[in-house]
Amino acid sequence: MQIGIIGTGYVGLVTGACFADLGHTVLCIDNNKEKIAQLKKGKVPFYEPELEGLVMTNIGEKRLAFSTSIAECVKKCEIIFICVGTPPLPNGEADLSAIEHVCIEIANHMKRYHLIVEKSTVPVKTGEWVQQTLKKHVRKGVQYDVASNPEFLREGSAIKDAAHPDRIILGVASDRAAMLLVKLYEPLNAPLLITDIKSAELIKHTANAFLALKISFINAVANVCERTGANVMKVAKGIGMDKRIGQDFLSPGIGYGGSCFPKDVSAYIKLCEKIGYDFKLLKEVEIINYNQRRSIINKLKAALGKLRGKKIALLGLAFKPNTDDMRGAASLDIIKILQKEKASIAAYDPVAMKNASHVVKNVMFCKDVYSSLEGADAAIVVTEWGEFSHLDLPRAKKAMKKPIIIDGRNIFEPKKMQKLGFKYWGVGHSK
Ligand code: UDX
Repeated sequence: MQIGIIGTGYVGLVTGACFADLGHTVLCIDNNKEKIAQLKKGKVPFYEPELEGLVMTNIGEKRLAFSTSIAECVKKCEIIFICVGTPPLPNGEADLSAIEHVCIEIANHMKRYHLIVEKSTVPVKTGEWVQQTLKKHVRKGVQYDVASNPEFLREGSAIKDAAHPDRIILGVASDRAAMLLVKLYEPLNAPLLITDIKSAELIKHTANAFLALKISFINAVANVCERTGANVMKVAKGIGMDKRIGQDFLSPGIGYGGSCFPKDVSAYIKLCEKIGYDFKLLKEVEIINYNQRRSIINKLKAALGKLRGKKIALLGLAFKPNTDDMRGAASLDIIKILQKEKASIAAYDPVAMKNASHVVKNVMFCKDVYSSLEGADAAIVVTEWGEFSHLDLPRAKKAMKKPIIIDGRNIFEPKKMQKLGFKYWGVGHSK
């Protein structure tokens, strides 16, 4: 099948490359000329394991191409996926202006039937609005359908997630749209849920809100554990053995970040406000999440006293391992608080330092983890990169001025750390 993808961010590019790999012919569009020029050479503008190889292979096999022209996309492709960004507005609502712009341009070029699919995460009822926008601009007599097919991929394992999804959600309003999408996904042999457009839209937002809630729930329990002497890792394991709860997304730490959870939770709250429902539970999810960042600083202060003039090493900057994405990263909140307290910061991240340097100032970026620890009064584990768990701890201790480690991701064993002479704080267990 001939597929058009508009927007070559994470979702667009991964979706495009994976459809091409399934044997479809895919044309990916972006209005950023430089980005498209790089993509034509197989250069992916962000770090995502396996993606560059997949892009290169499918360009070589002539199944994947790139262009800046929506007109070309509409001419060649019957099914067009909208994968442009929906960043949060200052009030937390999703900004749908990029989607509107793309819809108008698609409509202006439509001469035959097209299926327009929203893949960007959008508030419920966006499909209706897309339908109306198209209707206003499409020439008379031209038929089309709108569908919602949300993406559930995780950064860092996006290719695997796209190739082996738990489920494919198809929100459709006609049999024709359903048949086209079923055929498109047939090679994946994944469980399908065919539903109406609004439910599909809400499934995506609700899945992310529920996962964020699970994380905030276990973080709240971590606070109970710290005050009672219980161990949150054991509690999480114990409750997770109940199939109804499950082990996933019960890792306590410094709270969730990334391009989806923070924005989707706040957009969900805003959406509910608009429709007259006060979703207090989700508001609390956000509060608990931010407090986890603060709690790291409280532990640091308990260990060090005043932070003014102290050198703090940050181990990791990305919002999670295997990505260079700094959006919504806990490190940003922690850096802000440390700088307010006049501490100096030395940071190391295996891949995110370049992106971090665009969004934070006055942070010393170090060539490796041991350089960041040199002369540090304390270290905070911010991202659980594999290389930090395999740290040469005696060497790390020797490099530091004071052997204080605040482990925001529970990557170390408390007893072992104490035995090695570290003053160690994790999340959700008494010291
Ligand atoms: C998420 C969803 O998982 C994905 O389905 C959706 O399409 C996009 O949003 P992503 O943002 O890539 O994916 O990362 P994810 O692995 O879900 O982690 C999100 C954040 O939660 C990270 O900051 C991570 O560190 C944190 N997290 C995750 C926890 O703190 N504890 C956990 O148990 C799991």
